[in-house]
Amino acid sequence: PQTRVYNFTVHPLSITRLCSSKSIVSVNGKFPGPTIYANEGDRIIVRVTNRAQYDITIHWHGIRQILSCWADGPAYITQCPLQTGQSYVYNFTVTGQSGTLLWHAHETWLRGTVYGAIVIFPEAYPYTFPDEEHVIILGEWWKANVEDVETQALQAGNGPAIADAYTMNGLPGPLYNCSLQDTYVMKLHRNKTYLLRIVNAALNTELFFSIANHSLTVVEIDGDFTKHYTTNIIFLTPGQTTNVLLKTDQGGGRYYMGASPYMSAVKVPFQNTVTLGFLVYGESSTATTSNIPSFPASNDTNFVTQFSNSLRSLDDPSHPEGVPQTVDKSLFFTVGLGAKPCAPNQTCQGPNGNNFTASMNNISLILPKVAILQAYYFNISGVFQSTFPDSPLSVFDYTATNPPNNLTPESATKVNVIPFNSNVQLILQDTSLLGAENHPIHLHGYSFYIVGQGFGNYQASSANFNLVDPPRRNTVGVPVGGWAAIRFKADNPGVWYMHCHLEIHTTWGLAMAFIVPNGIGANQTLPPPPSDLPAC
Ligand code: C2O
Repeated sequence: PQTRVYNFTVHPLSITRLCSSKSIVSVNGKFPGPTIYANEGDRIIVRVTNRAQYDITIHWHGIRQILSCWADGPAYITQCPLQTGQSYVYNFTVTGQSGTLLWHAHETWLRGTVYGAIVIFPEAYPYTFPDEEHVIILGEWWKANVEDVETQALQAGNGPAIADAYTMNGLPGPLYNCSLQDTYVMKLHRNKTYLLRIVNAALNTELFFSIANHSLTVVEIDGDFTKHYTTNIIFLTPGQTTNVLLKTDQGGGRYYMGASPYMSAVKVPFQNTVTLGFLVYGESSTATTSNIPSFPASNDTNFVTQFSNSLRSLDDPSHPEGVPQTVDKSLFFTVGLGAKPCAPNQTCQGPNGNNFTASMNNISLILPKVAILQAYYFNISGVFQSTFPDSPLSVFDYTATNPPNNLTPESATKVNVIPFNSNVQLILQDTSLLGAENHPIHLHGYSFYIVGQGFGNYQASSANFNLVDPPRRNTVGVPVGGWAAIRFKADNPGVWYMHCHLEIHTTWGLAMAFIVPNGIGANQTLPPPPSDLPAC
């Protein structure tokens, strides 16, 4: 194994998109930020220096951070943010995992521009080594400052403004105003096999991705290999990554590739914008331009369901290590939106003049002023309570068309403690209190198996689990008006954030944290924090 050292300087960058200029927060003056490359087993050291006017942290999304929770990055969960002028060294090993992941800012909405890819080359590929590879990061772009988009969404008490554009490697593409020059072009060679590493780094939008005239073979999701699945269109929630094999086996020319939004809560599909780029290969003299690929409608939940049901891990009876077959700790969390009274002096555009909120088990997370991990490790009292319930305190018909309207969530900082090494099963149940929606729930510190999912209320008696080869991910799209069941072994001590990866929902409180205490002996014990850990 090697040590890979990166320096990330976070600083303002002036940038023009859609004919309008603004200053964004960037890493090393790049947008998207630099890609981190490593081999499985390597140590990665990133010295982050904050030269921006905002507090910041960086999170290595999907890195399991085994015995290195101090390097995970979510603000006020595992560390206090780096203030302007401060530095912090993130130091971790990529143990037993490979594939495509992403890094992003994990403080307020800064990940709207502060993001990049992580590429970890595996010890061995379970498929023919591709000839070449490319990273495609999908995102959103606002003409306004993302921090202002956040403030505005919160002050008005309504949802966030829809992005002015979707982007591919930071570029909106030809369908947007004056963006013809800002189009991502991927030059390939004919008759080769490429590995495309596709990342959804958007703040608030789930996306379909497709390439005209070409099929895509999914081989990996969220850094875990899958059985091959060939399709014309893939689907990714924010925080998800998908590796696909692409054969340049067409006649040559210019082919459109693009991404369009999935909006699970919208009943009537509507025309929304599409980010496009080009894939180019073959003789330029005979080059023809393809049609734009056709995308599912913006509310095509059937496509999303069928796609996620088609993904399978490599596990099977001959590969038995993975899926927990028994359960030691059984959890049931509701996830959903709700309403809370409008604050005095505020005009709220949420339901009945109220404010939007979001919760798990009807508890809306308030981020503390001291990081939970620091408080836990140093026994600082009064920062959090260890009383996050294993199941909802009020049981109701979660997905009813006329749900109860008297469930105002409690705002609190509560964690759920999981015994070290237990096999956890967690049912995530969407609620329709304020309109059902697909919630991409992301767990830090672990990858989990998605053993089942369905619509309506979860019922153990009728749930059909796949305990043989369920897909393994770090972010699961809980079906709109439905549920997902995940399993993992809690063998990594620390404080692990779990939240909706639609940033507006996290801001509204759709988040909680687990504490996994140390096991026995040094190889099951979280070491002390690095000496440069920022203080609050
Ligand atoms: Cu990708 Cu807690 O985030």
